[in-house]
Amino acid sequence: MSIRPVISSTGLHTPTESISNAELVESFNAYVAAHNAEHAAAIAAGERPALEPSSVEFIEKASGIKARHVVDKAGVLDPAVMRPRNLERPNEELAILAEIGVTASRDALARAGRDPGDVDAVLCACSNLQRPYPAVAVEIQDALGIEGFGFDMNVACSSATFGIQTAADYIRAGNARSVLVVSPEITSGHLNWRDRDSHFIFGDVATAVLVEAADMAPASHWDILGTKLKTVFSNNIRNNFGFLNRTDPEHRDDPDKLFIQEGRKVFKEVVPMVAAMILAEMERLNLPQGSMRRIWLHQANTNMNRLIAQRVYGHEASEDESPTVLDTYANTSSAGSVIAFHKHSDDLSAGDNGLICSFGAGYSAGCVFVRKVG
Ligand code: COA
Repeated sequence: MSIRPVISSTGLHTPTESISNAELVESFNAYVAAHNAEHAAAIAAGERPALEPSSVEFIEKASGIKARHVVDKAGVLDPAVMRPRNLERPNEELAILAEIGVTASRDALARAGRDPGDVDAVLCACSNLQRPYPAVAVEIQDALGIEGFGFDMNVACSSATFGIQTAADYIRAGNARSVLVVSPEITSGHLNWRDRDSHFIFGDVATAVLVEAADMAPASHWDILGTKLKTVFSNNIRNNFGFLNRTDPEHRDDPDKLFIQEGRKVFKEVVPMVAAMILAEMERLNLPQGSMRRIWLHQANTNMNRLIAQRVYGHEASEDESPTVLDTYANTSSAGSVIAFHKHSDDLSAGDNGLICSFGAGYSAGCVFVRKVG
């Protein structure tokens, strides 16, 4: 019989600084006013459109987001800068992406009572890697004192669930017994803070999930009942930043080299795809509708989550059935469903079933069905 993989623990790192919608909109509207003043003649001549201001009411209604944590609040809010600054460090120092990944990992290891020496592998699974190589996962591995191996993987907002399945497969195959899946997300570096349609969407955070062989897991853990991954190519969420593309400093704020999306299309196409995938997988695993005590969905948007949860439950889901962390964290890409799981799972009882589910660019979607033990 193959070795059974379980989730032993999770960890979280939340940056201390946070930006409210009011602060964000004030900075954005100052940028709009300055831009429109600078181009007043061209706007009056009809040669270019005036930029429109953003609004707190729109952001809350369209997304459910009220605030977001960031690694550099002053840089993001300065209308002349509008991006995080000074994140590059000398090669001798721990890179910031590794640093926040290490903090989340230490939290997960402590919660499982696990010594880093017992961990075999580190997967850094996230949307926005800081560099091509050496892998950030290897830097995290080194900082934690883990032997074995590590590598980076990117499936955008679905990276964590793809990482959990990868870790579970290593354990089933006997290639590792304890694997850290780390998702450090500095989304503020790829968000176009000057784009009215999307400037409010993202926040920074790091999560870690410790996936282990059942026979070494702590008494209280989560059985992995099944996992399912899916990808379908789409250009509706895209970021062209990369070193074969034009990324010299003069062009680093090109909208094309930052996050862009067709939000309405994403909404319309991803909701049915994810709901159908969850229901099909529940059927395959003999989990009838009503058998899910809680679902921890990707945190993109409250309206999207409400619709998906409604299809999974067959009724309007309560905050208890489908908790959100969007109000304080915003969309944190691959980390979102793990934050929801981390913050809203302690109260479940042994035998309760749940689902960690992600979706996003690619398109990509991942399901991890779990059952509480102990
Ligand atoms: N402040 C005020 N008004 C704004 C605004 C802002 N910041 N941004 C857009 N608007 C206006 C638009 O100009 C538009 O006005 P109009 O109707 O007069 O043309 C109106 O609000 C609606 O804009 P729209 O972009 O169609 O909004 P929406 O209701 O579709 O919500 C998203 C936008 C992004 C929140 C929504 O499409 C969504 O949730 N998509 C899911 C995708 C997602 O979250 N992806 C993240 C990666 S997984």
